[in-house]
Amino acid sequence: MIEVKNLVRTFKSGDRTITPVNDVSFELEQGTLASIVGKSGSGKSTLLSLLGALDKPTSGDVLVNGVSLAGMPDGQLTEYRRRDIGFVFQQFNLIPNLSALDNVMLPMEFAGIRKAARQERARHLLEQVQLDPDKHVRRINRLSGGEQQRVAIARALANAPKLILADEPTGNLDEQTGEHIIELLSSLSRNHNTTILVVTHDRSLANKTDRRFRLQQGQLTEEAARSRIAAASPA
Ligand SMILES: Nc1ncnc2c1ncn2[C@@H]1O[C@H](COP(=O)(O)OP(=O)(O)O)[C@@H](O)[C@H]1O
Ligand SMILES: [Mg+2]
Repeated sequence: MIEVKNLVRTFKSGDRTITPVNDVSFELEQGTLASIVGKSGSGKSTLLSLLGALDKPTSGDVLVNGVSLAGMPDGQLTEYRRRDIGFVFQQFNLIPNLSALDNVMLPMEFAGIRKAARQERARHLLEQVQLDPDKHVRRINRLSGGEQQRVAIARALANAPKLILADEPTGNLDEQTGEHIIELLSSLSRNHNTTILVVTHDRSLANKTDRRFRLQQGQLTEEAARSRIAAASPA
């Protein structure tokens, strides 16, 4: 369970202060797939950075299974980031001249898992994200965008994090590939009981998530629970 409490982040630029995250509170049950939509510059990446402890809030707190990030020393925050969070970015952020397998193994190496176990788990994760077995040992820069994003998701899952934060993960993909990625995230959140928070520009992708939020002028609002029946019936 992730609890976000009165989170505020202000930035100063010259004599101007902006507050892209202005008193944001919400809770996510473990295993939820949630989305955040909002205009460019509305604070979506800032909010994800706070949840992933890449940045510190001006005030407020994030509690992960009851443990407060605000009270954590920096060393523990680094641990939290490595162990409990998986990041997926628009630009994939993989190491281009390493193989898919090596990219997925890397976070496990940092976590001190021995090589044979790393390799086995990486293969298993690449199977779960449905990357063709013959592409497991292919270099990243020889994979398509959709394939690279599958590898990035497998890497995010490497240390079995509690929370996956995905910042516009379909932003560089065509519509159909983007849809496959969201479907993949959806099945992963269920099968692994992982909480996934995905930022997207794309309404139709957001509509596929369990809970939908909108960030506007620093404020987060939740949209009504989706209803597939209502969406399918004529107006
Ligand atoms: N480190 C920073 N220093 C100053 N301003 C920042 C910083 N990070 C983000 N901002 C500003 O905060 C606002 C929200 O940015 P961001 O969270 O990246 O928006 P989004 O991801 O929704 O496009 C923007 O006006 C951006 O310029
Ligand atoms: Mg952003």
